[in-house]
Amino acid sequence: MPRSSAAAPFAVSLTLCLGLAACGGGGVHGTPGAAGVRDPYFPKAGNGGYDVTHYTLALAYDPEAHKLTGTAEITARATQDLSAFDLDLKGLDVGGVTVEGRGARWNRSGQELTVRPHEDLDKGETFRTTVRYSGRPPTITDADGSKEGWLPTADGAVGLGEPTGSMAWFPGNNHPSDKATYDIAVTVPKGLTAVSNGEPAGESTKKGRTTFRWHTAEPMASYVATVAIGRYKVSRSATKDGLPLYVAVDPTQVKASAKVLAKIPEILAWEKYNFGAYPFTSAGAIVDRPDDAGYALETQNRPFFPGAPDTGTLVHELAHQWYGDSVTPKSWRDMWLSEGFATYAEWLWQEDHDGDTADEIFNSLYKGDYYDAKEDNEAIWAFPPGKPSGAAHISDPPVYDRGAMVLHKIRETVGDARFYDIIQGWAAAHRHGNADTADFTAYVEKTAPGKDFTKIWDDWLYGEGKPSRP
Ligand code: TRP
Ligand code: ZN
Repeated sequence: MPRSSAAAPFAVSLTLCLGLAACGGGGVHGTPGAAGVRDPYFPKAGNGGYDVTHYTLALAYDPEAHKLTGTAEITARATQDLSAFDLDLKGLDVGGVTVEGRGARWNRSGQELTVRPHEDLDKGETFRTTVRYSGRPPTITDADGSKEGWLPTADGAVGLGEPTGSMAWFPGNNHPSDKATYDIAVTVPKGLTAVSNGEPAGESTKKGRTTFRWHTAEPMASYVATVAIGRYKVSRSATKDGLPLYVAVDPTQVKASAKVLAKIPEILAWEKYNFGAYPFTSAGAIVDRPDDAGYALETQNRPFFPGAPDTGTLVHELAHQWYGDSVTPKSWRDMWLSEGFATYAEWLWQEDHDGDTADEIFNSLYKGDYYDAKEDNEAIWAFPPGKPSGAAHISDPPVYDRGAMVLHKIRETVGDARFYDIIQGWAAAHRHGNADTADFTAYVEKTAPGKDFTKIWDDWLYGEGKPSRP
């Protein structure tokens, strides 16, 4: 039974202005914000009517009881006159909601937490919403069967949010199109460590519990927000050019991952040379062993690995800091702008480090002898990267491999010098923002006037089936 606030559940309805008196002065002018942002694959993700600028999350976690207690303070700007608005929150119990410090009515239905402020909000107004909540955060099973949200480990838990899992541990506007800055404080039993995005902003111990504070000054999409709680071997260092590195590794993984994690500075230097300035103020990695997730994720500043990564995966997740985390897809349909680029970064790394050239990898994928299994080679042609066939397929091979093939076709068309200008310029043009596939094709065309990309877009990016020629 969903609980709601003391007031009777309210009907979300249009406010009618009958006569001037009812419309003026009393603040009765807003309408409810939409329950989603019309993502083609996740229609309930995100919410309409406001834009979040900052999240301040104060969390406490008891790993033995699996209990999370949280207060989320959300600063947002209304993009319409609002009588009510939604936040995304899955599971957990809401203890109370205030808007601008005053008690607000609220109601829950599925992942929508609908908040009705005491007074309507004006378009353009910046307002602060505080949500108190607690409970056992859910692990979410995606359409493709993978697990995300809150993932318990032997000695703690990890929050991973692709595509929708951040709503398992904090309420918000859970869609990549609404990026914000964050302050995240996590209180855990003394002896454990809590790691998050951004930079450490102090820690303090009181009554057997330690609070770890983290500050993210650059815009971040909710799906790359993370907290990792457990016993970690933490190392703090810096790259040659002074970028702070913070790496946290589960004690059982230290030995197996030491050698590869030592390559982080070298990989970042190579990526900086190829992709342009690193977009954030710190970097690093988190290695832990969730009970249920076997994939890495490009969590901002410090990607997450479910055990010691190989070099290719490390190159991939660090490349996502430029493509995915800084230049973030506008919707889940634009996923290839993230995964195609991160995959192509792996090819380029191979090419520059005595492995196969990108051209060899492309040709092997086209020929169908890249993977051992026939099905894996055929899976690449299941749908075009620019239009995944459904929510269950946004992490499938056409998005990764065929997405990278699109980039290789562009490189073939424009040559190396201009190709590197394009990938660097693209990262700079949309730094800390959002972009969609049409933005990308327009950018490429503008950067290489006189070149014809029609066949690449028609056959490789948007065309069904395997293009007839490599
Ligand atoms: N996006 C991640 C990466 O490429 C991988 C990933 C996250 C994933 N969630 C997934 C892959 C679910 C398959 C299924 O770095
Ligand atoms: Zn990826």
